[in-house]
Amino acid sequence: MRLAEIMAELRRYLDDDAPELSLPPAAFTSPELWEAERERVFGRSWLLAAHADDLAGPGASVTLAPAGRPLTVTRAEDGTLRGRSALGPHRPAPTVEEWRGFVFVNPDASAEPLAPHLRRIGEELDAYRLPEMTRIAGWTEEWHCNWKIAVQNAHENYHAMGLHPATVALITPPGGAMEVRAESRWVTRLLSPFREPLAATALPLSDEQRATMYNCAVFPCGSLAAFGDSVVWITMIPLTVDRIEVRGGVLMHPSALDGQDRDALREQNEEGAAVVNREDRLGMEAVQRAVGSRFAERGHLSPKEPGVVAFYRGLARALVTD
Ligand SMILES: [Fe+2]
Repeated sequence: MRLAEIMAELRRYLDDDAPELSLPPAAFTSPELWEAERERVFGRSWLLAAHADDLAGPGASVTLAPAGRPLTVTRAEDGTLRGRSALGPHRPAPTVEEWRGFVFVNPDASAEPLAPHLRRIGEELDAYRLPEMTRIAGWTEEWHCNWKIAVQNAHENYHAMGLHPATVALITPPGGAMEVRAESRWVTRLLSPFREPLAATALPLSDEQRATMYNCAVFPCGSLAAFGDSVVWITMIPLTVDRIEVRGGVLMHPSALDGQDRDALREQNEEGAAVVNREDRLGMEAVQRAVGSRFAERGHLSPKEPGVVAFYRGLARALVTD
């Protein structure tokens, strides 16, 4: 499938009667589409890069290589966060923004601020006291799949049935009605019911908050999910057309940490994440092999996957509209 055909298919997701189909298989393998994404998506979007605790002291830095172009965020002596392109001093410095402890970087030096797009999310998450949350665990992995396979997967809970029967599916029931609200071109809110409401939390959350996983996806490849007293964040940074670096971490509110052994908590969270990440990675790598087959066909999207359509719309907007 040629680039123009893929773009024409993408454009259809912007229609009111968007196709209830997954992207054409070629969208996950096309070198031409990847080149377009490098410029139009990864050259000018807000990428979730780290949590502020990963950049705690002066000189601390995090380097990402979205679309193979390294960017570094460093904590300066004065406490501010600075972005730098590793491609050389002639390159304009990327824009860095911190929102409630989450550090975002945009290669576009004149990027519009992200925070206004997160205003309503911030109000709804007020009770979780995100700015006070502290890093418990973190990880970086490499998966062999196109970034969109991993990101679309993070926009639905349906796959828990196949990939996470003994882990995620015990917490959020697969196919549990997900409520999706597109906030803006950058931000989508996804709510999923827990199987059982969380027991008493240290934070003063409402019954609804105890019964719901609150997930905020930031286009193109970042998301954070609040589960009671803890938050899990994840970012899928594409390195090449079929390889991503997955970074993430767990944060907790200090009020939930009284008397807890931080090292044990870190170990337990990193082990748990490794199990779930492995389940996702093996699933995503199998999908990548399947879309590379010349017999691959588009899949039907279930009405239980409205988040995937929201992601495709964001993609179409970035690639075919402006
Ligand atoms: Fe998963």
